Amino acid sequence: MNNKRHFNTILVTGGAGFIGSHVVRRLLTAHPDSRIVNVDLLTYAGNLSNLDDIPALAGENRYRFVHADIADGDMMRRVIAEEKADAIVNLAAETHVDRSIVDPGSFARTNVLGTMSLLNAARAVWEASPEGYEGKMYYQISTDEVFGALGEGDAPFCETTPYNPHSPYSAAKSSADHFVRAYHDTYGLPVLISNCSNNYGPNQFPEKLMPLVINNIKHGRDIPVYGRGLNIRDWLYVTDHAEAIDTILHNAAAGSTYCVGGNNEQRNIDIVKALIAVTDRQLGRPAGSSDRLITFVTDRKGHDLRYAIDSSRLQNDLGWKPATTFAEGLEKTVAWYLDNTRWLDDITSGEYARYYERMYGSR
Ligand code: NAD
Ligand code: TYD
Repeated sequence: MNNKRHFNTILVTGGAGFIGSHVVRRLLTAHPDSRIVNVDLLTYAGNLSNLDDIPALAGENRYRFVHADIADGDMMRRVIAEEKADAIVNLAAETHVDRSIVDPGSFARTNVLGTMSLLNAARAVWEASPEGYEGKMYYQISTDEVFGALGEGDAPFCETTPYNPHSPYSAAKSSADHFVRAYHDTYGLPVLISNCSNNYGPNQFPEKLMPLVINNIKHGRDIPVYGRGLNIRDWLYVTDHAEAIDTILHNAAAGSTYCVGGNNEQRNIDIVKALIAVTDRQLGRPAGSSDRLITFVTDRKGHDLRYAIDSSRLQNDLGWKPATTFAEGLEKTVAWYLDNTRWLDDITSGEYARYYERMYGSR
């Protein structure tokens, strides 16, 4: 498909994180005439080694990393103006539901006030430019968690599902989305929003389910399954999300919103069992060796039962669909964490070790 629009400089925030690093790579590869500026605060979740291949991929002058906080309005205005950014893709956020239960304030600060600071900076710089909002786009990366929880027989979330967040994480993401829409409706800022389901794949911080389970199987540690493991999530391979973001950014009408998902609902316990099967096999262990590690633990407070996404609007309007099957995605994901020992060891030392001990104890 030919893209409807081109951007000279795309400012990506949160590009040192899990999804952001794949988005930076995708945009540099698919748009050889665009420059990418990556703004990231490098919180515990940000990791420059997710971007090791980027300088070689980008060549001269096509990539710049800026170590900054999206909540720093002056800095955001300066970067957008200096770089003449004509698109902003905001992925920077606090993202872990369990952390949001312990410390909701940091989620309000980054996800709500940080988003507002970026919106204000975009408005200030773009409104002062000779062509105004012409050729500009602000794109907010959101989550399906804003829609709340589904019961077993409910229809999947879609673009018209009302927001009904339950966790401090999803409440903060919802609030940010409302501000993005308000800036479109009030000031005419050209915006896009997409709400995606659970991503999995390489480079995910191992406090999230899949990398945590793979790491625990590798080390023979107990696998903490919340409640009875019956909660359901829709899972999408991360490069498919990066492709969806690229497609939406370059083709969707300003003011529109899209749901992105893998049409792939799985119970947590089935994910854990599938990861055990693949990881044991890839490690050359007999089938079922790690079954004994499954440990049912106290459920997450307010644990949403089920998320499911209907992405037919995106498929029909813009021709996107997931390219990676779940079986293929699991094989690639497990192989990546087992091959990238250094990445996993580095990230699971220090702050992660302390977090893990606090959450689950020493096993
Ligand atoms: P992540 O936690 O792996 O990465 C977040 C990145 O943002 C990190 O690099 C971190 O350093 C950076 N960051 C945090 N606060 C910042 C600040 N104040 N200023 C600048 N940078 C800051 O997150 P992820 O899983 O890659 O998620 C990226 C985005 O996608 C988030 O907005 C998240 O809500 C959304 N999302 C994630 C999923 C998922 O399954 N992971 C699904 C749907 C939507
Ligand atoms: P997570 O990866 O934290 O993503 P989210 O909460 O945004 O969906 O969790 C995915 C599911 O796995 C969720 O239902 C909680 C569950 N879970 C566990 O059972 N054990 C764990 O150790 C973790 C981190 C998550």
